[in-house]
Amino acid sequence: GVKIVTIGGGSSYTPELMEGFIKRYDELPIREIWLVDIEAGKEKLEIVGAMAQRMWDASPYDVKIHLTLDRREALKDADFVTTQFRVGLLNARIKDERIPFSYGMLGQETNGAGGMFKAFRTIPIVLQIVEDMKELCPNAWLVNFTNPSGMVTEAVVRYGKWERVMGLCNVPVMATMTEPKALGVEKEDLIYKFAGLNHFHWHKVADDKGNDVTYKVIDAMFDKDAGLPKNIHDIPFYREQLEQMGMIPCGYHRYYYREEEMLEHGLEEFNGEGTRAQQVKQTEAELFELYKDPNLNYKPEQLQKRGGAYYSDAACETIAAIYGNKDTQIVVSTKNDGAVPDLPADCVVEVTAYVGAQGARNVAFGELPTAEKGWLQVMKAMELLTIEAAVTGDYGTALQAFTINPLIRSGNTAKRIMDELFIAHKKHLPQF
Ligand code: NAD
Ligand code: G6P
Ligand code: MN
Repeated sequence: GVKIVTIGGGSSYTPELMEGFIKRYDELPIREIWLVDIEAGKEKLEIVGAMAQRMWDASPYDVKIHLTLDRREALKDADFVTTQFRVGLLNARIKDERIPFSYGMLGQETNGAGGMFKAFRTIPIVLQIVEDMKELCPNAWLVNFTNPSGMVTEAVVRYGKWERVMGLCNVPVMATMTEPKALGVEKEDLIYKFAGLNHFHWHKVADDKGNDVTYKVIDAMFDKDAGLPKNIHDIPFYREQLEQMGMIPCGYHRYYYREEEMLEHGLEEFNGEGTRAQQVKQTEAELFELYKDPNLNYKPEQLQKRGGAYYSDAACETIAAIYGNKDTQIVVSTKNDGAVPDLPADCVVEVTAYVGAQGARNVAFGELPTAEKGWLQVMKAMELLTIEAAVTGDYGTALQAFTINPLIRSGNTAKRIMDELFIAHKKHLPQF
Protein backbone atom coordinates (compact mmCIF):
# COMPACT_ATOMS: atom_id res chain seq x y z
CA GLY A 1 0.00 0.00 0.00
CA VAL A 2 0.99 3.59 -0.65
CA LYS A 3 1.96 6.02 2.10
CA ILE A 4 0.97 9.64 1.48
CA VAL A 5 2.17 12.57 3.57
CA THR A 6 0.49 15.95 3.27
CA ILE A 7 2.33 18.94 4.74
CA GLY A 8 -0.11 21.66 5.69
CA GLY A 9 -2.75 19.02 6.39
CA GLY A 10 -4.86 21.52 8.35
CA SER A 11 -5.78 23.31 5.13
CA SER A 12 -9.50 23.60 4.37
CA TYR A 13 -8.66 21.99 1.00
CA THR A 14 -7.87 18.62 2.62
CA PRO A 15 -11.38 17.18 1.93
CA GLU A 16 -10.85 18.06 -1.75
CA LEU A 17 -7.67 16.00 -1.69
CA MET A 18 -9.39 13.08 0.09
CA GLU A 19 -12.17 13.07 -2.49
CA GLY A 20 -9.57 12.81 -5.25
CA PHE A 21 -7.83 9.88 -3.57
CA ILE A 22 -11.11 8.04 -2.83
CA LYS A 23 -12.12 8.43 -6.50
CA ARG A 24 -8.85 6.86 -7.63
CA TYR A 25 -8.42 4.17 -4.98
CA ASP A 26 -8.60 1.31 -7.50
CA GLU A 27 -5.50 2.55 -9.30
CA LEU A 28 -3.82 4.08 -6.26
CA PRO A 29 -4.21 1.72 -3.29
CA ILE A 30 -3.40 3.95 -0.36
CA ARG A 31 -2.54 2.39 2.99
CA GLU A 32 -2.19 5.45 5.16
CA ILE A 33 -2.27 9.22 4.96
CA TRP A 34 -0.32 11.42 7.33
CA LEU A 35 -1.51 14.99 7.73
CA VAL A 36 1.26 17.21 9.09
CA ASP A 37 0.81 20.68 10.52
CA ILE A 38 2.37 22.98 13.11
CA GLU A 39 1.25 24.26 16.51
CA ALA A 40 -0.47 27.30 14.96
CA GLY A 41 -2.58 25.00 12.78
CA LYS A 42 -3.24 22.30 15.36
CA GLU A 43 -6.92 23.06 15.88
CA LYS A 44 -7.58 23.17 12.13
CA LEU A 45 -5.65 19.93 11.71
CA GLU A 46 -7.75 18.15 14.30
CA ILE A 47 -11.06 19.32 12.84
CA VAL A 48 -10.28 18.67 9.20
CA GLY A 49 -8.37 15.49 10.07
CA ALA A 50 -11.44 13.99 11.74
CA MET A 51 -13.49 15.06 8.73
CA ALA A 52 -10.97 13.34 6.40
CA GLN A 53 -11.22 10.11 8.41
CA ARG A 54 -15.03 10.23 8.18
CA MET A 55 -14.77 10.55 4.40
CA TRP A 56 -12.69 7.36 4.24
CA ASP A 57 -14.93 5.59 6.72
CA ALA A 58 -17.90 6.35 4.45
CA SER A 59 -16.00 4.86 1.50
CA PRO A 60 -15.51 1.14 0.85
CA TYR A 61 -11.79 1.48 1.64
CA ASP A 62 -9.84 1.00 4.81
CA VAL A 63 -7.48 3.96 5.08
CA LYS A 64 -6.14 5.38 8.30
CA ILE A 65 -5.52 9.12 8.71
CA HIS A 66 -2.67 10.01 11.06
CA LEU A 67 -2.41 13.54 12.45
CA THR A 68 0.91 14.88 13.65
CA LEU A 69 2.93 18.01 14.33
CA ASP A 70 6.11 15.97 13.87
CA ARG A 71 7.04 16.20 10.20
CA ARG A 72 9.95 13.80 10.50
CA GLU A 73 7.81 11.11 12.09
CA ALA A 74 5.40 11.39 9.17
CA LEU A 75 8.01 11.44 6.39
CA LYS A 76 9.60 8.12 7.31
CA ASP A 77 9.21 5.77 4.30
CA ALA A 78 6.68 8.00 2.53
CA ASP A 79 5.94 7.27 -1.13
CA PHE A 80 4.42 10.65 -1.98
CA VAL A 81 4.71 13.93 -0.12
CA THR A 82 2.24 16.65 -1.02
CA THR A 83 2.71 20.22 0.17
CA GLN A 84 -0.16 22.65 0.77
CA PHE A 85 1.17 24.75 3.61
CA ARG A 86 0.93 28.50 4.08
CA VAL A 87 3.66 30.03 6.24
CA GLY A 88 1.95 32.54 8.53
CA LEU A 89 -1.52 31.31 7.51
CA LEU A 90 -4.10 33.64 6.01
CA ASN A 91 -3.09 36.52 8.28
CA ALA A 92 0.24 36.68 6.45
CA ARG A 93 -1.60 36.73 3.13
CA ILE A 94 -3.72 39.64 4.36
CA LYS A 95 -0.49 41.61 4.87
CA ASP A 96 0.85 40.57 1.44
CA GLU A 97 -2.27 42.02 -0.10
CA ARG A 98 -3.01 45.04 2.07
CA ILE A 99 0.45 46.59 2.37
CA PRO A 100 1.02 47.03 -1.39
CA PHE A 101 -2.58 48.23 -1.89
CA SER A 102 -2.10 50.80 0.86
CA TYR A 103 0.57 52.36 -1.39
CA GLY A 104 -1.58 52.05 -4.53
CA MET A 105 0.09 48.95 -5.94
CA LEU A 106 -1.35 45.53 -6.57
CA GLY A 107 -1.59 43.23 -3.57
CA GLN A 108 -2.09 39.64 -4.68
CA GLU A 109 -1.23 36.22 -3.34
CA THR A 110 1.07 35.05 -6.13
CA ASN A 111 1.68 38.16 -8.24
CA GLY A 112 3.53 41.39 -7.54
CA ALA A 113 5.02 42.17 -4.14
CA GLY A 114 2.73 39.79 -2.23
CA GLY A 115 3.70 36.76 -4.29
CA MET A 116 7.37 37.56 -3.81
CA PHE A 117 7.02 37.74 -0.03
CA LYS A 118 5.07 34.49 -0.03
CA ALA A 119 8.09 33.01 -1.82
CA PHE A 120 10.52 34.52 0.72
CA ARG A 121 8.59 32.87 3.57
CA THR A 122 7.98 29.54 1.89
CA ILE A 123 11.23 28.63 0.16
CA PRO A 124 13.37 28.13 3.29
CA ILE A 125 10.70 25.76 4.67
CA VAL A 126 10.36 23.72 1.50
CA LEU A 127 14.15 23.34 1.42
CA GLN A 128 14.06 21.97 4.98
CA ILE A 129 11.37 19.50 3.90
CA VAL A 130 13.63 18.37 1.05
CA GLU A 131 16.53 17.81 3.46
CA ASP A 132 14.26 15.66 5.64
CA MET A 133 13.12 13.71 2.59
CA LYS A 134 16.71 12.97 1.55
CA GLU A 135 17.16 11.30 4.88
CA LEU A 136 13.77 9.73 5.59
CA CYS A 137 12.17 8.89 2.21
CA PRO A 138 14.81 9.30 -0.52
CA ASN A 139 12.68 7.57 -3.16
CA ALA A 140 9.54 9.60 -2.58
CA TRP A 141 8.04 12.14 -4.97
CA LEU A 142 7.33 15.67 -3.83
CA VAL A 143 4.06 16.97 -5.28
CA ASN A 144 4.00 20.68 -4.59
CA PHE A 145 0.95 22.88 -4.42
CA THR A 146 2.30 25.53 -2.12
CA ASN A 147 2.31 28.88 -3.87
CA PRO A 148 3.99 30.47 -5.63
CA SER A 149 4.00 26.94 -7.00
CA GLY A 150 6.44 27.50 -9.88
CA MET A 151 9.01 29.34 -7.79
CA VAL A 152 8.76 26.86 -4.94
CA THR A 153 9.28 24.01 -7.39
CA GLU A 154 12.24 25.75 -8.99
CA ALA A 155 13.81 26.29 -5.54
CA VAL A 156 13.47 22.55 -4.84
CA VAL A 157 15.27 21.64 -8.07
CA ARG A 158 17.87 24.43 -8.15
CA TYR A 159 18.82 24.82 -4.49
CA GLY A 160 17.44 21.60 -2.96
CA LYS A 161 19.02 19.55 -5.78
CA TRP A 162 15.94 17.36 -5.66
CA GLU A 163 14.61 16.27 -9.07
CA ARG A 164 11.70 14.06 -7.98
CA VAL A 165 9.28 16.97 -7.78
CA MET A 166 6.18 18.09 -9.66
CA GLY A 167 4.67 21.54 -9.24
CA LEU A 168 0.93 21.75 -9.78
CA CYS A 169 -1.93 24.17 -10.27
CA ASN A 170 -5.65 23.89 -10.87
CA VAL A 171 -5.82 26.64 -13.51
CA PRO A 172 -4.94 24.39 -16.48
CA VAL A 173 -7.38 21.77 -15.17
CA MET A 174 -10.18 24.34 -15.19
CA ALA A 175 -9.39 25.43 -18.77
CA THR A 176 -9.49 21.88 -20.09
CA MET A 177 -12.77 21.30 -18.25
CA THR A 178 -14.66 24.37 -19.46
CA GLU A 179 -13.40 24.89 -23.02
CA PRO A 180 -14.48 21.58 -24.57
CA LYS A 181 -17.96 22.16 -23.11
CA ALA A 182 -18.09 25.59 -24.74
CA LEU A 183 -17.22 24.00 -28.08
CA GLY A 184 -19.72 21.20 -27.56
CA VAL A 185 -17.06 18.47 -27.69
CA GLU A 186 -15.37 16.15 -25.22
CA LYS A 187 -11.99 16.83 -23.69
CA GLU A 188 -10.65 13.74 -25.49
CA ASP A 189 -11.51 15.34 -28.85
CA LEU A 190 -8.98 18.13 -28.32
CA ILE A 191 -5.20 18.29 -28.14
CA TYR A 192 -3.90 20.78 -25.60
CA LYS A 193 -0.46 22.35 -25.37
CA PHE A 194 0.39 24.60 -22.45
CA ALA A 195 3.62 26.50 -21.86
CA GLY A 196 4.97 29.32 -19.75
CA LEU A 197 5.30 29.71 -16.00
CA ASN A 198 2.94 28.96 -13.15
CA HIS A 199 0.10 31.52 -13.18
CA PHE A 200 1.76 32.84 -16.34
CA HIS A 201 1.17 30.25 -19.04
CA TRP A 202 -0.58 30.29 -22.39
CA HIS A 203 -2.15 27.46 -24.31
CA LYS A 204 -3.08 26.35 -27.79
CA VAL A 205 -5.77 23.89 -28.76
CA ALA A 206 -6.01 21.57 -31.78
CA ASP A 207 -8.68 19.13 -32.91
CA ASP A 208 -8.03 15.40 -33.03
CA LYS A 209 -6.57 15.75 -36.53
CA GLY A 210 -4.07 18.31 -35.31
CA ASN A 211 -5.76 21.38 -36.87
CA ASP A 212 -5.42 24.47 -34.70
CA VAL A 213 -8.77 25.45 -33.16
CA THR A 214 -7.45 28.02 -30.70
CA TYR A 215 -9.42 30.78 -32.48
CA LYS A 216 -12.63 28.75 -32.18
CA VAL A 217 -12.02 28.38 -28.46
CA ILE A 218 -11.39 32.13 -28.17
CA ASP A 219 -14.71 32.76 -29.96
CA ALA A 220 -16.61 30.30 -27.81
CA MET A 221 -15.14 31.57 -24.56
CA PHE A 222 -14.83 35.27 -25.27
CA ASP A 223 -16.58 37.59 -22.86
CA LYS A 224 -17.79 34.69 -20.75
CA ASP A 225 -16.51 33.83 -17.32
CA ALA A 226 -13.83 31.75 -19.01
CA GLY A 227 -13.48 29.01 -16.43
CA LEU A 228 -11.77 31.47 -14.15
CA PRO A 229 -10.96 30.50 -10.60
CA LYS A 230 -13.18 32.31 -8.08
CA ASN A 231 -10.38 34.57 -6.85
CA ILE A 232 -9.77 36.37 -10.17
CA HIS A 233 -11.96 39.29 -11.18
CA ASP A 234 -13.16 38.89 -14.75
CA ILE A 235 -11.85 41.71 -16.93
CA PRO A 236 -11.85 40.45 -20.53
CA PHE A 237 -8.68 40.43 -22.60
CA TYR A 238 -8.49 42.61 -25.70
CA ARG A 239 -9.62 40.44 -28.56
CA GLU A 240 -7.14 41.92 -31.06
CA GLN A 241 -4.34 40.97 -28.74
CA LEU A 242 -5.48 37.36 -28.47
CA GLU A 243 -5.80 37.13 -32.22
CA GLN A 244 -2.30 38.50 -32.65
CA MET A 245 -0.72 36.02 -30.25
CA GLY A 246 -2.79 33.04 -31.41
CA MET A 247 -2.82 31.62 -27.90
CA ILE A 248 -5.09 31.70 -24.88
CA PRO A 249 -3.55 33.39 -21.84
CA CYS A 250 -4.24 32.01 -18.37
CA GLY A 251 -6.60 33.79 -15.99
CA TYR A 252 -3.77 35.44 -14.08
CA HIS A 253 -2.52 37.16 -17.25
CA ARG A 254 -5.22 39.77 -16.63
CA TYR A 255 -2.93 41.27 -14.03
CA TYR A 256 -0.41 41.94 -16.82
CA TYR A 257 -2.50 42.60 -19.97
CA ARG A 258 -5.12 44.64 -18.05
CA GLU A 259 -3.05 45.83 -15.12
CA GLU A 260 -4.83 49.17 -14.76
CA GLU A 261 -8.32 47.66 -14.47
CA MET A 262 -7.24 44.83 -12.20
CA LEU A 263 -5.52 47.28 -9.87
CA GLU A 264 -8.62 49.50 -9.85
CA HIS A 265 -10.82 46.55 -8.91
CA GLY A 266 -8.37 45.42 -6.25
CA LEU A 267 -8.28 48.89 -4.72
CA GLU A 268 -12.09 48.96 -4.61
CA GLU A 269 -12.09 45.74 -2.60
CA PHE A 270 -9.25 47.02 -0.43
CA ASN A 271 -11.29 50.11 0.43
CA GLY A 272 -14.57 48.20 0.67
CA GLU A 273 -15.44 44.61 1.48
CA GLY A 274 -11.80 43.64 2.04
CA THR A 275 -9.13 41.99 -0.10
CA ARG A 276 -9.40 38.41 -1.31
CA ALA A 277 -7.53 37.06 1.72
CA GLN A 278 -10.02 38.76 4.02
CA GLN A 279 -12.93 37.28 2.06
CA VAL A 280 -11.30 33.86 2.09
CA LYS A 281 -10.88 34.06 5.85
CA GLN A 282 -14.68 34.28 6.13
CA THR A 283 -15.10 31.27 3.86
CA GLU A 284 -12.51 29.35 5.84
CA ALA A 285 -14.38 30.02 9.09
CA GLU A 286 -17.64 28.81 7.51
CA LEU A 287 -15.93 25.69 6.21
CA PHE A 288 -14.45 24.77 9.57
CA GLU A 289 -17.87 25.19 11.20
CA LEU A 290 -19.20 22.66 8.69
CA TYR A 291 -16.24 20.31 9.18
CA LYS A 292 -17.02 20.17 12.90
CA ASP A 293 -20.32 18.44 12.16
CA PRO A 294 -19.76 14.76 13.10
CA ASN A 295 -22.29 13.73 10.44
CA LEU A 296 -20.56 15.45 7.53
CA ASN A 297 -18.58 12.86 5.59
CA TYR A 298 -18.28 14.37 2.11
CA LYS A 299 -16.77 17.52 0.62
CA PRO A 300 -19.27 20.35 1.14
CA GLU A 301 -20.47 22.56 -1.70
CA GLN A 302 -19.09 25.67 0.03
CA LEU A 303 -15.50 24.64 -0.76
CA GLN A 304 -16.21 25.66 -4.36
CA LYS A 305 -16.01 29.27 -3.16
CA ARG A 306 -12.25 28.84 -2.93
CA GLY A 307 -10.11 29.48 -6.00
CA GLY A 308 -8.40 26.11 -5.76
CA ALA A 309 -11.45 24.08 -6.78
CA TYR A 310 -10.49 20.87 -8.63
CA TYR A 311 -6.94 21.04 -7.41
CA SER A 312 -7.21 17.41 -6.30
CA ASP A 313 -7.71 16.42 -9.91
CA ALA A 314 -4.22 17.67 -10.68
CA ALA A 315 -2.64 16.30 -7.49
CA CYS A 316 -4.24 12.87 -7.37
CA GLU A 317 -3.99 12.34 -11.12
CA THR A 318 -0.27 13.14 -10.99
CA ILE A 319 0.32 10.71 -8.14
CA ALA A 320 -1.74 7.99 -9.83
CA ALA A 321 0.16 8.57 -13.09
CA ILE A 322 3.56 8.22 -11.41
CA TYR A 323 2.49 5.22 -9.33
CA GLY A 324 0.86 3.38 -12.24
CA ASN A 325 3.38 4.59 -14.84
CA LYS A 326 0.39 5.81 -16.84
CA ASP A 327 2.01 8.40 -19.11
CA THR A 328 -0.94 10.71 -18.55
CA GLN A 329 -0.93 14.18 -20.10
CA ILE A 330 -0.81 16.67 -17.23
CA VAL A 331 0.30 20.29 -17.01
CA VAL A 332 3.14 20.45 -14.50
CA SER A 333 5.90 22.75 -13.31
CA THR A 334 9.05 20.86 -14.13
CA LYS A 335 12.50 21.32 -15.67
CA ASN A 336 12.23 22.90 -19.10
CA ASP A 337 14.66 20.68 -21.03
CA GLY A 338 14.03 22.54 -24.27
CA ALA A 339 10.22 22.45 -24.34
CA VAL A 340 10.24 26.26 -24.21
CA PRO A 341 13.34 27.25 -26.18
CA ASP A 342 12.96 30.92 -25.16
CA LEU A 343 14.06 29.97 -21.63
CA PRO A 344 17.15 28.15 -20.34
CA ALA A 345 16.95 24.34 -20.39
CA ASP A 346 17.64 24.03 -16.65
CA CYS A 347 14.91 26.33 -15.33
CA VAL A 348 11.42 25.28 -14.28
CA VAL A 349 8.50 25.94 -16.62
CA GLU A 350 4.83 25.02 -16.53
CA VAL A 351 4.19 22.82 -19.51
CA THR A 352 2.11 19.94 -20.86
CA ALA A 353 3.92 16.68 -20.13
CA TYR A 354 3.45 12.95 -20.16
CA VAL A 355 3.71 11.88 -16.55
CA GLY A 356 4.81 8.37 -15.59
CA ALA A 357 7.08 6.50 -13.20
CA GLN A 358 10.16 8.29 -14.52
CA GLY A 359 8.62 11.72 -14.05
CA ALA A 360 7.59 14.23 -16.71
CA ARG A 361 8.42 14.08 -20.42
CA ASN A 362 7.58 17.54 -21.69
CA VAL A 363 5.73 18.22 -24.91
CA ALA A 364 7.75 20.69 -27.00
CA PHE A 365 5.91 23.98 -27.36
CA GLY A 366 8.34 25.92 -29.51
CA GLU A 367 9.15 29.61 -29.58
CA LEU A 368 6.63 32.13 -28.35
CA PRO A 369 5.49 35.27 -30.21
CA THR A 370 7.73 38.32 -29.63
CA ALA A 371 5.65 40.01 -26.92
CA GLU A 372 5.05 36.84 -24.94
CA LYS A 373 8.68 35.81 -25.23
CA GLY A 374 9.63 39.17 -23.71
CA TRP A 375 7.17 38.81 -20.84
CA LEU A 376 8.33 35.29 -20.16
CA GLN A 377 11.99 36.18 -19.97
CA VAL A 378 11.35 39.11 -17.64
CA MET A 379 9.14 36.98 -15.41
CA LYS A 380 11.66 34.16 -15.23
CA ALA A 381 14.39 36.65 -14.29
CA MET A 382 12.08 38.00 -11.56
CA GLU A 383 11.47 34.45 -10.31
CA LEU A 384 15.16 33.55 -10.25
CA LEU A 385 16.04 36.72 -8.34
CA THR A 386 13.20 36.15 -5.88
CA ILE A 387 14.32 32.59 -5.22
CA GLU A 388 17.94 33.68 -4.84
CA ALA A 389 16.92 36.38 -2.36
CA ALA A 390 14.79 33.86 -0.43
CA VAL A 391 17.81 31.56 -0.09
CA THR A 392 20.56 34.10 0.56
CA GLY A 393 18.56 36.74 2.43
CA ASP A 394 20.30 39.42 0.40
CA TYR A 395 18.47 42.77 0.47
CA GLY A 396 19.94 44.02 -2.82
CA THR A 397 18.81 40.87 -4.64
CA ALA A 398 15.31 41.31 -3.23
CA LEU A 399 15.29 44.92 -4.42
CA GLN A 400 16.42 43.83 -7.89
CA ALA A 401 13.58 41.31 -7.99
CA PHE A 402 11.11 44.01 -6.93
CA THR A 403 12.43 46.37 -9.57
CA ILE A 404 12.11 43.90 -12.43
CA ASN A 405 8.62 42.73 -11.44
CA PRO A 406 6.22 44.24 -14.02
CA LEU A 407 3.52 44.83 -11.37
CA ILE A 408 5.76 46.94 -9.12
CA ARG A 409 6.68 50.48 -10.12
CA SER A 410 10.31 51.06 -9.24
CA GLY A 411 11.50 53.77 -6.91
CA ASN A 412 10.93 55.07 -3.43
CA THR A 413 7.40 53.71 -3.00
CA ALA A 414 8.46 50.22 -4.04
CA LYS A 415 11.31 50.29 -1.56
CA ARG A 416 8.95 51.43 1.19
CA ILE A 417 6.51 48.62 0.38
CA MET A 418 9.36 46.14 0.53
CA ASP A 419 10.63 47.50 3.85
CA GLU A 420 7.18 47.46 5.37
CA LEU A 421 6.61 43.87 4.24
CA PHE A 422 9.96 42.89 5.77
CA ILE A 423 8.86 44.35 9.08
CA ALA A 424 5.37 42.83 8.91
CA HIS A 425 6.73 39.34 8.19
CA LYS A 426 9.87 39.56 10.31
CA LYS A 427 9.23 36.42 12.31
CA HIS A 428 8.86 34.29 9.18
CA LEU A 429 11.95 35.73 7.47
CA PRO A 430 14.94 34.82 9.62
CA GLN A 431 17.21 34.72 6.54
CA PHE A 432 16.97 38.51 6.01
P1 NAD B 1 -3.89 27.67 5.02
O1 NAD B 1 -3.69 29.05 5.48
O2 NAD B 1 -5.09 26.93 5.48
O3 NAD B 1 -2.58 26.83 5.39
C1 NAD B 1 -2.58 25.44 5.33
C2 NAD B 1 -1.91 24.88 6.56
O4 NAD B 1 -0.50 25.03 6.48
C3 NAD B 1 -2.33 25.56 7.85
O5 NAD B 1 -3.08 24.68 8.65
C4 NAD B 1 -1.00 25.96 8.48
O6 NAD B 1 -0.97 25.82 9.88
C5 NAD B 1 -0.04 25.03 7.79
N1 NAD B 1 1.37 25.39 7.90
C6 NAD B 1 1.94 26.61 7.95
N2 NAD B 1 3.28 26.51 8.06
C7 NAD B 1 3.56 25.18 8.08
C8 NAD B 1 4.76 24.43 8.18
N3 NAD B 1 5.94 25.02 8.30
N4 NAD B 1 4.67 23.08 8.17
C9 NAD B 1 3.48 22.46 8.08
N5 NAD B 1 2.32 23.12 7.98
C10 NAD B 1 2.35 24.46 7.98
O7 NAD B 1 -3.79 27.68 3.45
P2 NAD B 1 -4.78 27.32 2.27
O8 NAD B 1 -5.53 28.53 1.93
O9 NAD B 1 -5.51 26.08 2.54
O10 NAD B 1 -3.73 27.07 1.12
C11 NAD B 1 -2.69 26.15 1.30
C12 NAD B 1 -1.57 26.34 0.32
O11 NAD B 1 -1.91 25.76 -0.93
C13 NAD B 1 -1.21 27.79 0.04
O12 NAD B 1 0.19 27.90 -0.10
C14 NAD B 1 -1.92 28.05 -1.27
O13 NAD B 1 -1.31 29.08 -1.99
C15 NAD B 1 -1.78 26.73 -1.95
N6 NAD B 1 -2.76 26.42 -3.01
C16 NAD B 1 -2.26 26.22 -4.25
C17 NAD B 1 -3.08 25.89 -5.30
C18 NAD B 1 -2.47 25.74 -6.66
O14 NAD B 1 -3.12 25.89 -7.66
N7 NAD B 1 -1.17 25.45 -6.74
C19 NAD B 1 -4.45 25.75 -5.08
C20 NAD B 1 -4.94 25.94 -3.80
C21 NAD B 1 -4.08 26.27 -2.76
C1 G6P C 1 -6.29 29.59 -7.96
C2 G6P C 1 -4.85 29.25 -8.05
C3 G6P C 1 -4.29 28.80 -6.76
C4 G6P C 1 -4.62 29.77 -5.67
C5 G6P C 1 -6.11 29.91 -5.57
C6 G6P C 1 -6.49 31.01 -4.60
O1 G6P C 1 -7.06 28.50 -8.17
O2 G6P C 1 -4.54 28.31 -9.02
O3 G6P C 1 -2.91 28.67 -6.93
O4 G6P C 1 -4.11 29.31 -4.45
O5 G6P C 1 -6.69 30.22 -6.77
O6 G6P C 1 -7.79 30.85 -4.18
P1 G6P C 1 -8.34 31.56 -2.88
O7 G6P C 1 -9.71 31.04 -2.70
O8 G6P C 1 -7.41 31.19 -1.77
O9 G6P C 1 -8.29 33.02 -3.17
MN1 MN D 1 -2.41 27.84 -8.95
